[in-house]
Amino acid sequence: MIGSSDNGTPDDIPFHADLTLQRLRPRLEEYWRQRGTSESRCREFELRLREHWLELFRILFRLYGTRYDFFYHIEQVLLTAAAAWAERPEPLCELDLHRCNDPGWFLSEKVVGGALYVDLFSENLVRAREHVPYFKDLGLTYLHLMPLFAVRPGNNDGGYAISNYRSVDPRLGTIDDLRMLANDLREAGISLVLDFVFNHTADAHQWAQHAQAGEREYQDFYWIFSDREIPEQYERTLREIFPTVRRGNFTWHDGMEQWVWTTFNSFQWDLNYTNPAVFRAMAEEMFFIANMGVDILRLDAVAFIWKRMGTDCENLPEAHLLIQAFNRLARIATPGLLFKSEAIVHPDEVVKYIHPNECQISYNPTLMALLWESLATRKVDLLVQTLKHRSKLPPNTSWVNYLRCHDDIGWTFDDRHAEAVGIRAYDHRRFLNEFYTGQFPGSFARGIPFQENLETGDMRISGTMASLAGLEQAIEEDDEEKKDLAIRRMMLLHGITLSIGGIPLLYLGEEWGMLNDYDFALDPAKAGDSRWIHRPKMKWEFLEELDDHIESGNGSIRSEIYMSTRRLIELRKDLPALSGQNMELINTSNSHVLGYLRLHDANRLIVLANFSDRPQSVDGNTLRTVGLGRFFEDVIRTTTYSTADPVELEPYQNLWLKRV
Ligand code: GLC
Ligand code: GLC
Repeated sequence: MIGSSDNGTPDDIPFHADLTLQRLRPRLEEYWRQRGTSESRCREFELRLREHWLELFRILFRLYGTRYDFFYHIEQVLLTAAAAWAERPEPLCELDLHRCNDPGWFLSEKVVGGALYVDLFSENLVRAREHVPYFKDLGLTYLHLMPLFAVRPGNNDGGYAISNYRSVDPRLGTIDDLRMLANDLREAGISLVLDFVFNHTADAHQWAQHAQAGEREYQDFYWIFSDREIPEQYERTLREIFPTVRRGNFTWHDGMEQWVWTTFNSFQWDLNYTNPAVFRAMAEEMFFIANMGVDILRLDAVAFIWKRMGTDCENLPEAHLLIQAFNRLARIATPGLLFKSEAIVHPDEVVKYIHPNECQISYNPTLMALLWESLATRKVDLLVQTLKHRSKLPPNTSWVNYLRCHDDIGWTFDDRHAEAVGIRAYDHRRFLNEFYTGQFPGSFARGIPFQENLETGDMRISGTMASLAGLEQAIEEDDEEKKDLAIRRMMLLHGITLSIGGIPLLYLGEEWGMLNDYDFALDPAKAGDSRWIHRPKMKWEFLEELDDHIESGNGSIRSEIYMSTRRLIELRKDLPALSGQNMELINTSNSHVLGYLRLHDANRLIVLANFSDRPQSVDGNTLRTVGLGRFFEDVIRTTTYSTADPVELEPYQNLWLKRV
């Protein structure tokens, strides 16, 4: 038995970890022998096992240590890791080696990301391979393919209702097509990002099917209740994520005549990680996906993976432990693999997932929401207040900065920061919702509501970047001035995500200023989910417009947006100051202008961003003191500024200032 010290933490963990490993060694060696694994491979595994075993053991003990069969499960987990390493393809092992030697490889200013749906962008995986030159031309070095695994029939939540993690949706291709695409991307220097949807499976997954057939073993994979009693108790403290789909978090299953925990859609069954068999089974799926040639796993819905009665069942300490356990396993068996956190929650909670031992990178939903907030208010007070209080990230971790993704926008800022700048949070969220659904007088935005909850007044926003930034309205009114302003807004926002620190991530379509696609309402499988409005199909004819642009210099708005976006990306990659996360706010003494200094080694870049539709100015002395010089050049427009004069910014202008 493992004893406890006075403070309640087991004091003989290292002893037991060691003993367990000793007991397991013969089984491990037997396994290597059977598989004919080379000696050098075994040795590499052994080295990493020694480095991470104690922590892995400690974490699993905290999660599952009270179980009578704890040692059985930990053995199974270790053998799972060994199998993953034994099966890891050689090119991936080489990459592992590079990345272990350069654990901050993704912090470089050269890294730029994109995300897309294979069917909407390319039709299928084979066609996607033909599009690799397009990604390269745009400057992408990181590509997130939205979920492409086998899904349930009917509504599948855009691929997030997975019925089999080991086969590709036949409409998109096969596992081999995916492997070949992964190879092509690797050769093109583009990292592949895929989702690890580990909070839930589809009701059509074989585990859920077994559960429906009454098998106890698989019913224990989920949260299943025979009556409402326990669900009611949980419900008292739970939030509703998709209230227009179904009230509450539980779904009645006719066949089983039981209630199932379904945080998202009724067909997405939450996995029960208090059962160590679930952890192990999902670890196997994780390794299968990783070994196909995935560089980064996007951990979906991380906040929800652990539940405890009496809490909101979000961001619980055990959720972090679970991810850390997956991370340690990855360090041992697939060490080049990174985790990206998808936690769209309160800013204080978002950062807690970011650590080299947890998720090395994370969406930055707070910045995303506040950039849109600043665009609506034309002021940067709340953004600046929030950035002032931001947490410093640990070394070798990074934000992923984005403007739009396949999901909605929620106003997840900290109410205290709002109060501090004289903003009433509740009213402000209402204002933002009105603004972005185009109801507020003078609004330029064309978004639509997502998951409006009439009871709480809560609502989120759907819409493409261009439609939210005013392009749709401008085109409809055929107003040249409005078109110009909309494009300026879009470039302003890109200018910030590309320079503020972290991996910039484009949601493909943005590079053309794709507008809302209202046709989703015609498809019964999509009509109930307004997020489809911002998931339009790529139109390859746009490339011809681009040619026109290049030949005659006189192209469409779309080609103008494409060229400007691509140029900003190119500029970023030439500015070593933009590497890493080091950013200092600059007090511009102008509430419309965001200012920051980027610093890396001896490189400095000053960024000024005017969020108003009027010209603004900033005292030139500010540049001199933070930029350590008298003359600066804006690398975007190659204009020179002297610190003797005020710096004048045009409406929505973004300056990237380098000392000359
Ligand atoms: C994540 C996805 C979202 C999906 C949800 C359930 O938040 O981004 O699209 O609906 O998880 O899987
Ligand atoms: C909520 C969840 C987030 C999910 C989103 C989907 O914001 O916190 O995980 O992506 O809903 O709409």
